[in-house]
Parts: sequence; structure tokens; C-alpha cells
Amino acid sequence: MQPRKRYVKALCREAVDHHPVWLMRQAGRYLPEYRAIRAQNDFLKMCYTPELAVEVTLQPWRRFGVDAAIVFSDILLPAHAMGAELKFIEGDGPTFPQMIRSQKALDALSADWSLARERLQPVLTTLEILRAELGQSAGLIGFVGTPWTISAYLVQGRGKHGFDELLKMKDSAPELLQNLLSKITDVLVPYVQAQVKAGCDAVQLFDTWGGLLKAEEFAQVSLPHIKRIVEAIQAAGGKAVCFLKERAELLPQLMQAKPDALGIGYDLDLSKVRETYGQHFAIQGNFNPEYLLQDLSEVKKQTQEMLKKAGKNPGYIANLGHGVIKTTNPESVKTFVDTVHEYKL
Ligand code: CP3
Repeated sequence: MQPRKRYVKALCREAVDHHPVWLMRQAGRYLPEYRAIRAQNDFLKMCYTPELAVEVTLQPWRRFGVDAAIVFSDILLPAHAMGAELKFIEGDGPTFPQMIRSQKALDALSADWSLARERLQPVLTTLEILRAELGQSAGLIGFVGTPWTISAYLVQGRGKHGFDELLKMKDSAPELLQNLLSKITDVLVPYVQAQVKAGCDAVQLFDTWGGLLKAEEFAQVSLPHIKRIVEAIQAAGGKAVCFLKERAELLPQLMQAKPDALGIGYDLDLSKVRETYGQHFAIQGNFNPEYLLQDLSEVKKQTQEMLKKAGKNPGYIANLGHGVIKTTNPESVKTFVDTVHEYKL
């Protein structure tokens, strides 16, 4: 079975020869071939230069034979395209120097899609090139952050030291927060549709910080925006994957957005999640990225353990529960991928 077909069939919960596998942050600093390009270019330049973005997207696919490639980009690019100044500071991660904490600051962001589209065009061009190069030999995944997770960075200004300002805004200025979430969604809706048109089989919504909300807050504050984006992806003909890093109690809420697949973090019990939700959703995950820091024999053992928990029913996509850690030995990733591929269904 060709990898693209394997990946899409698994998303549709149809039978495949073995579970497809890819890894969050499969392109990145743990790969020497990535570091070689990164040494010559800053991160944002790499995101906005199709030639470079295509190359680093393909690196893990070439090296490991993963079943899907996720476009090299970042969840914060749409905020940048809306006019927010964005800097990636070495060792400090992404920073928005002009934090959004007032209506005035919010008014300065633009929700004009034709403007944002122009700025995001390099990502769409990257996707078109990838689709043509990959053909049937890998699924192609686009992505966005959820409006809540993007807002976390926009309101806080940075991500390294918690999100107290975001949580404060949620309680003291809920309307301002809703206006911000809506404005971001207004850009993400046409953006995900453009990603599908450019050739993505699936678009993944990263909700890294969804777990900061309690279940009922999540349903009220964040979920309506997630729903709009999921519907937009599906209306354009793509599959929608929702990734939530933690908090099992948010899954029943997230289900209401009716994505095609749920990506889960590593603290959840995969067999339970498959049992509870596997009839309705493909499940993706949930290998602990820290396991990849162990010996290869241990990586293999833990991967087999994950596969046992996933079981042989259709509708499973092997992945990590969060991104590859930058000190990971690439050989561990190879062992992870090979072990999934050896597990015949
Ligand atoms: O998965 C992939 O291979 C595709 C590319 C991808 C990146 N970021 C590249 C990247 C994806 C899907 C993301 C998503 C992303 N970006 C998320 C959601 C997923 C998650 O990790 O929780 C978030 C929260 C961001 C924001 C972001 N971008 C942060 C917090 C950082 C700093 C991380 C760090 O360890 O320094 C980035 C930078 C970033 N995005 C890098 C990569 C490869 C490292 C950049 C570098 O080379 O210096």
C-alpha cells in the first residue's frame, strides 16, 4: 500500500497493511542536515523561503520513510501575517514585543485575508511543491494553532514563563479575549482552506495550551472557534486532526467539534482512548518523546508496548504525544518508525 493511501485510510478508519507513522517536529534541530541549513538561515527566513521549507520538510521523510510529511512552518505565522511583530530569540523561543492586552492593540491587527494571504503565500507555495514532489509516497499535512494557543503567545508576549496574563484576560476581559479569538479565526478559516487547496490531505490543529482551561471553560471560550476551523477544513475536502497535549477531561468536549482524528499527549492511556473514542475518531499518538532518549533496544520495546495498546483495529496513526526533543538521536527515530512498520495488521 502506498504511504499516502495508508495515511488517509487510517484517518478514515479504514483497513491498512500497517499503521501509518509520522512524528510531531520530525523536521528540526535533532537532525544534522537540518542544523546545517539552520546554521546559514534564521528560522523565519526558512519558513518563508519555499526552497528551504521544502527541503527541511523532506529531510525526515527521506531519512526514515515516514508515511506523512508535515509542512515546515510555525503556528505563529498567521499572527505575524495579521501584522504582529514576531521574533524568534535564540534560547528564548518566539516573542511578540507588542503584546495584545487592549482593544486598541487588537484593532491594530488585521483580519483582512487578502493581505494575510499575500504574506502566507510562501507556505502555500511550499505545500504545492511538496504535493507535486511527494505524489503518493507520503501524506501531506498542513497545520494551524488553535486561536486559544496562538492567543497565549500574543497576550503573554512569550511562551517560556507561563501564561498568567492570558488567564487574567480570560477572567477580567472575556469580551476582549473573544474578540481576539474571533479575529484570529477569521484568518485561520480561509488559511486552512487554502492549505487543503494547495494539496494537504489533512490539517492538524495544535492546541498545546488548551489544557490551561477547565472543561467547561474550554467548551465556552475555545471550542466554538475550533469548530469553525474544523468545519472549514472538512468543507474544503481535507481531514481535520485536533491535537491536545494534556487533560483527558477535555476530550469529550473536543469530540463535539467532530474532527476526523484526535491527537493525544503522552500522559493519556492509549488503550482506553482507543476503546472509548476509536469508534468515532482515528487516534494519533501517544509515545512519550523522552523514551526516544533511551537505548535503541528500549525504544523498540516501548514502541511495541505502544502498538500493543493501540491494537489492530483500523484508525490508528503512530506518533509522539508531543514534539521530538532536540537532543534525540536520529537512530531512535528510525527504530521507532521501523518498529511501527514491522507490526503487520
Ligand atoms: O512538526 C514539524 O516538523 C513541523 C514544523 C513545526 C514547527 N513548529 C517548527 C519549529 C510545527 C508543527 C510547529 C508547531 C508549533 N510551534 C507549536 C505547537 C506544537 C508544540 O510544539 O506544542 C508551538 C507552540 C509553536 C511555537 C514555537 N515555535 C515554539 C514554542 C518554538 C520554540 C521551540 C524551541 O524548542 O526552541 C518554535 C520554534 C520552532 N518551530 C522550531 C521548529 C523546528 C525550532 C526553531 C529553530 O530551528 O531554532
